[in-house]
Amino acid sequence: MSRKMQDRLAGFEPRFSPMAYKAALFGMLIAAFAIPLGLAAIPYIEFFNDMAVQPKGKAQGLYGTTIGQPHLVDRMPPSGSLPMDFMPYAIAGNDVKAAERAGETLRNPLKPTMKVLERGQKLFHDYCRTCHGSQGQGDGPIVGPGLFPAPPSLHTDTARSFKDGRIFHVITRGQNAMPSYADKLNTEDRWAVIHFLRALQRSLHPTPEDLKE
Ligand code: HEC
Repeated sequence: MSRKMQDRLAGFEPRFSPMAYKAALFGMLIAAFAIPLGLAAIPYIEFFNDMAVQPKGKAQGLYGTTIGQPHLVDRMPPSGSLPMDFMPYAIAGNDVKAAERAGETLRNPLKPTMKVLERGQKLFHDYCRTCHGSQGQGDGPIVGPGLFPAPPSLHTDTARSFKDGRIFHVITRGQNAMPSYADKLNTEDRWAVIHFLRALQRSLHPTPEDLKE
């Protein structure tokens, strides 16, 4: 070290006393704990709170206004309005009379193409097989003593004599222990299942017509 530097260092006097350094260090230590703790105690402030703070309105009521226009909360649709593409089914009740009326008035609008039959087969296996069995003999996996009441076979003379419309009615409105399947199968699905059911019935009771080459 040069002589000049040594002279300068000899004359050096720290601006802060060692005591002041200690106090500053101690202060920083306190701050390291106090600041996070203090922040945690302050209520959480959100600057964009549109998602958390939403106006509340009572169903069917009004809340607040924007430029004089009241806000409407969900209102009931006007009576008689229908969802898009929904065809109302007019024949009420699941009694024999209603089912017979359906048999007289409804016609299957679908042609029994391979596509329709395959769709009907899939739906029958998904929705009907559980009770009616995969061949429609009334021996599905959930029926039996102590289980669901077994349905009659779909191959009886009675079931075979039912018009398509009557079966449509049974699927739509249910029949005694059989519940309605209207909420699971749409109109076309129901007619497709009926075409499949007809094929199933013919498989055990073929007519000379079916046996033709
Ligand atoms: C939860 C069980 C269950 C399911 C699933 C079910 N059915 Fe039924 N079904 C029954 C029962 C039980 C009866 C007999 C009702 C009665 O006593 O009149 C019946 C009766 C019927 C009948 C009338 C038979 C007759 O001789 O009176 C038809 C047709 C029929 N079902 C078709 C279907 C079709 C098609 C499906 C599928 C979309 C289906 N069922 C799904 C339980 C079921």
